[in-house]
Amino acid sequence: AVPVILDCDPGHDDAFNIMLAAAHPAIELLAITTVAGNQTLEKTTLNARRVCTVAGIEGVPIGAGRDRPLHGTASVAVGIHGESGLDGPGFGEPTVPLDPRDGVTLIRDTLLAHPVPVTLAPTGPLTNVAALLLGHPRLAERIERIVLMGGSTGRGNTTPAAEFNIVCDPEAADIVFSSGLPVTMMGLNASHQVLATADVIARIDALGTPLSRLCTELLTFFAAAYREVFGFTAPPLHDPLTVAHIIDPQLVGLVSASVAVELTGTHTRGATVVDLDGVTGRPANAQVGMDVNVAAFWDLIVEAVRTLGGH
Ligand code: BDR
Ligand code: CA
Repeated sequence: AVPVILDCDPGHDDAFNIMLAAAHPAIELLAITTVAGNQTLEKTTLNARRVCTVAGIEGVPIGAGRDRPLHGTASVAVGIHGESGLDGPGFGEPTVPLDPRDGVTLIRDTLLAHPVPVTLAPTGPLTNVAALLLGHPRLAERIERIVLMGGSTGRGNTTPAAEFNIVCDPEAADIVFSSGLPVTMMGLNASHQVLATADVIARIDALGTPLSRLCTELLTFFAAAYREVFGFTAPPLHDPLTVAHIIDPQLVGLVSASVAVELTGTHTRGATVVDLDGVTGRPANAQVGMDVNVAAFWDLIVEAVRTLGGH
């Protein structure tokens, strides 16, 4: 199985990525770290513990990472994920504990303890990953690769040019894309193909377990938010493209390209400038997700909820 650390800001779609990573036998989930993004660090961390509790995911350490970007102040996505960051279902008090180590230390310790290099799957702002690379540059060799959700080959979703995870901490994103590590980017151009339609929600609901009911409530809230904010008929389940790609490398078509993060644009800060046509002459620094096998993606998600089952 591929050893993976999830770095996330749950977040409805982050929650499904956690479940997919925990459920699938091709993944060895080593740790979960949280970051401020969709909501405050306090809330995203509580939500990671909530998801693990309701899904019966035990023994995976959860560490709270950075509460703000490398520069500037944190912003949250209340309109999309609600006041809690995971609005929709009711949650009880989580029983899964919080690891006492801060998130960046937890990533460091996990990389050092694991016998082979580990894949990082960040699905929030890249603050923790950048802090790790800045603070412990020698640990880069312990990282197999980074498969992230963020950016876009085209339009943004937070500004016309920028996607949420990147625009929340563009300097961190720049550090990751410039790191020299193998980076795979699942951006909006890919994630807007995996829409949780009524059919998909019905398949999950039909599993008939307490967890499937909770997932249905999550997706129903997420769908209403995307309808309200963006006029989408169904919400894109962005983040699980990362783990789905690690499980099944054929699931998303990739192209190698140069990706530059805009840091200074007047209207475009946080944009990922993806040179698909090779016009800049800059060498490729990322594999960029393009065409998604949508049916295979939803089969993985439904199967994950089924596997985690009775919880
Ligand atoms: C990204 O932003 C967050 O709201 C989602 O969880 C996803 O990681 C999509 O732009
Ligand atoms: Ca996220």
